[in-house]
Amino acid sequence: MALYNDTVMEHFMNPRNVGEIENPDGKGIYGSPVCGDMMQITLSVDENEVITDAKFKTFGCGSAIASSSMATELIKGMTVEKALEVSNEKIVEELGGLPAVKIHCSMLAEHAIKNAIYDYAQSHGKEYAGLEGYDPDAEHHDDCEEDEEAGCQGCGNGQ
Ligand code: FES
Repeated sequence: MALYNDTVMEHFMNPRNVGEIENPDGKGIYGSPVCGDMMQITLSVDENEVITDAKFKTFGCGSAIASSSMATELIKGMTVEKALEVSNEKIVEELGGLPAVKIHCSMLAEHAIKNAIYDYAQSHGKEYAGLEGYDPDAEHHDDCEEDEEAGCQGCGNGQ
């Protein structure tokens, strides 16, 4: 059986929304504590708080590229509030699944989106449920349990 399904392969071979929005309304970068790979997401948001465009740059593996492609497709047209609810599980589900050892790659997309929305909220004076006390520079130890399930090797911090 092939390791990656057709949807994952298609998004890897033909990734959507690659690049960087000039003068974005929000920009987020996230580095994986598991593998050290990085993802950047830039957003355009209109006056109704709808994400009108999203682009990504990923220094990561094929699963990270497929995850970012799917994630940016998912959040385009969503309100910022809705996009905050897009989890890595949702991204994996839309991709039709990823191998267990690659689930952490989808975490990059979830965190990069959250960081980009945090940046938008900060620069536009907005507040959203789920962003209270959020620190985009934290190593997300509050997610350790989740990351562990997602294949985290353990960073040794916060333990
Ligand atoms: Fe680092 Fe997939 S993002 S191995």
